[in-house]
Amino acid sequence: MLKNDTFLRALMREPVEYTPVWMMRQAGRYLPEYCATRKNAGSFLQLCKNTELATEVTLQPLDRFPLDAAILFSDILTVPDAMGLGLYFAEGEGPKFERTVRTEEDVAKLFVPDVGTELKYVTDAVSSIRKALDNRVPLIGFSGSPYTLACYMVEGGSSSDYRTIKTMMYARPDLLHRILEVNTLTVIDYLNAQIEAGAQAVQIFDSWGGSLPFGKYQEFSLQYMARIVAGLKREHDGRKVPVIVFTKGGGQWLEDIAATGCDAIGLDWTTDIGEARRRVGDKVALQGNFDPVALFAPPAAIEAEVERILTSYGGGDGLKTGHVFNLGHGISQFTNPDHAAALVAAVHRFSGKK
Ligand code: CP3
Repeated sequence: MLKNDTFLRALMREPVEYTPVWMMRQAGRYLPEYCATRKNAGSFLQLCKNTELATEVTLQPLDRFPLDAAILFSDILTVPDAMGLGLYFAEGEGPKFERTVRTEEDVAKLFVPDVGTELKYVTDAVSSIRKALDNRVPLIGFSGSPYTLACYMVEGGSSSDYRTIKTMMYARPDLLHRILEVNTLTVIDYLNAQIEAGAQAVQIFDSWGGSLPFGKYQEFSLQYMARIVAGLKREHDGRKVPVIVFTKGGGQWLEDIAATGCDAIGLDWTTDIGEARRRVGDKVALQGNFDPVALFAPPAAIEAEVERILTSYGGGDGLKTGHVFNLGHGISQFTNPDHAAALVAAVHRFSGKK
């Protein structure tokens, strides 16, 4: 039995005593203890592949802050790596791939990897983290969305304008659809394997779907996420496994996202969460939506922002369920951990945690 299941109850829109909180990228370089462990591991990928160290860094933020959920320490780019594209991290340049998927021949060669062998290190980490958590809080599993994974596979790394993939979308939509098909089948296997190994909720990170025009978002990103939601094991060990869909920049498409059948929508900071709640009604829960850059301001300003978001959602009227407090995107590596502590404390205090 979970000692703290507030996060899962909020996602299912069941009554909660206070608003649960976790932070996107809560394990990472803003924590000195993470930097120390990463140094011992060698590279970032070696850290992801080392069960013991991946478990250790997953728990580090929980030992510092009273967070209501843990998130698997891994990366969305493990999936294209398992497809043989050769992920590496160039110092100071972010993720890169040795091989890209751009031509007709590249696409024809693309395959659904055997998740049970190629990504066993991820499910091993899930089992190990569950054991180490000892039911303190639920564990979130995750994957990139088919479109966001395709961005890295086609571009070969990060991009400021997504020129290569968007050109493919306009010029050869058939090629991009084929990539998205393979990614969708892979992500379904991957998330189901994480659920089987013990993930108690899952999040689909559609970090770059918001760069698509209206219509193209629905065709090239949302459609495939809806297929994933439909293909997931939604119950495990007698408990519902909620699915969160996070499209950064997706605030104008909330009704469409809610129609995928997901349990919750992740919001970036540009949307008013109260307005978002009125738009989706009781169809889904909402997660968000604090601007991660506001963590650079002094604690009093952080607290004011937290209060604004909780008030907008409607936390003061006893109807606070259906809201999981989070950042609108990942925490910056330059954040002062004391400011993250102030955020977590403010969410709990203002939402009535005893
Ligand atoms: O604590 C957690 O949230 C769990 C771990 C996690 C990481 N990446 C660890 C990581 C999660 C959930 C992710 C998701 C991820 N990875 C996304 C989706 C979320 C988002 O931010 O939009 C994306 C787009 C990636 C791809 C990726 N991985 C990039 C662009 C980078 C480099 C940018 C950076 O912050 O340096 C990574 C590397 C990465 N993933 C780090 C961490 C802690 C930093 C690597 C290091 O320690 O050097």
